[in-house]
Amino acid sequence: MQQIIATYQQSFAHQAAAVHATPSRKAIEDLRIAWLGRKGKIPALYQDLKGVTDGREKGLLGKAINELRNTIEAAIADLQAAGARAVLAAQLARPPLDVTMPVSAGSRMGSLHPVSLMRNLVVDELAKLGFSVFDGPEVETDFYNFTALNIPENHPARDMQDTFFIAEHPHYVLRTHTSNIQIHAMLQEKPPLRLVAPGRVFRVDNDATHTPMFHQVEIVVVDRGISFAHLKGLIEYTMKAVFDSSMKIRLRPSYFPFVEPGAEVDMLCSMCRGSGCRVCKESGWLEIGGCGMIHPNVFEAVNYDSETYTGMAFGFGLDRMAMLKYGINDLRQFFNGDYSFQQQFPLYSPR
Ligand code: DAH
Repeated sequence: MQQIIATYQQSFAHQAAAVHATPSRKAIEDLRIAWLGRKGKIPALYQDLKGVTDGREKGLLGKAINELRNTIEAAIADLQAAGARAVLAAQLARPPLDVTMPVSAGSRMGSLHPVSLMRNLVVDELAKLGFSVFDGPEVETDFYNFTALNIPENHPARDMQDTFFIAEHPHYVLRTHTSNIQIHAMLQEKPPLRLVAPGRVFRVDNDATHTPMFHQVEIVVVDRGISFAHLKGLIEYTMKAVFDSSMKIRLRPSYFPFVEPGAEVDMLCSMCRGSGCRVCKESGWLEIGGCGMIHPNVFEAVNYDSETYTGMAFGFGLDRMAMLKYGINDLRQFFNGDYSFQQQFPLYSPR
């Protein structure tokens, strides 16, 4: 047996050197199986060892087999690592993917998501009027999401928006609305101010008409002499531009802590044009957002002078508007990643 172990040492070294010269995943695996596999040479040696009766000899042989096995295991691990490095090097040596190549005829054309289409529509319309586009963080402190918007700690209005809190950081939330961007913008800019701020928002909601993540757009104007008439005019203008010139809106008095007076905004049901249908629950109108005149407490939080300036704000749900514009009946279609759904919105179609 001593003899066999010695020859094995040599023949393994030989075979390993050959694999090392032209490494491939298969060659390395074949080598491993031949030596260490269940029916390989090393297990066979251990099998033979059972037949050795002399205790001293058995001990010495066992030690020699163990050493051989350890050598083989280490060599194969080295070969495997070298093989992985070679595969990576070959990949890196290949010419890189050119993402600027023109799309070839017949290949699949990408398209913008309907919520992106709706966001672009709203933002473009307001940009034409001289509005700046603002962005804000999705992980937000409760100051920007609530307190500065006149929703102090323990105020019941915090319950209106079931919030995702971040367990280790009690003052951080996933923002519940894009109204937080009002505060960032006003702290950053002096009045007058005209802004449009689209973004993702989060609430603990999940059913056919609510998803835990959805999209809003916030629109704010602060200047001298801004009135409720401007607010109504701008909402009407925006909705006519996004839908069509026969679009109508309706305001219903409502409560939002960051505005006074405040109202809910309804638009004419785009499915039935006001005559009543299933979508609008026979009312002819659909709720799409909230609006109002910015509360003096909000101005105070951002050091704007509420004696000199007045402001108006409105916030819409972009998903809702996209559903109505493109005739989509289930909100979840937006987020389930179905390619055939997405293919209905060709890239360059502006609306
Ligand atoms: N932030 C409100 C919400 O998510 C919507 C809203 C209401 C926005 C009134 C406004 C506003 O700007 O003035 O429910």
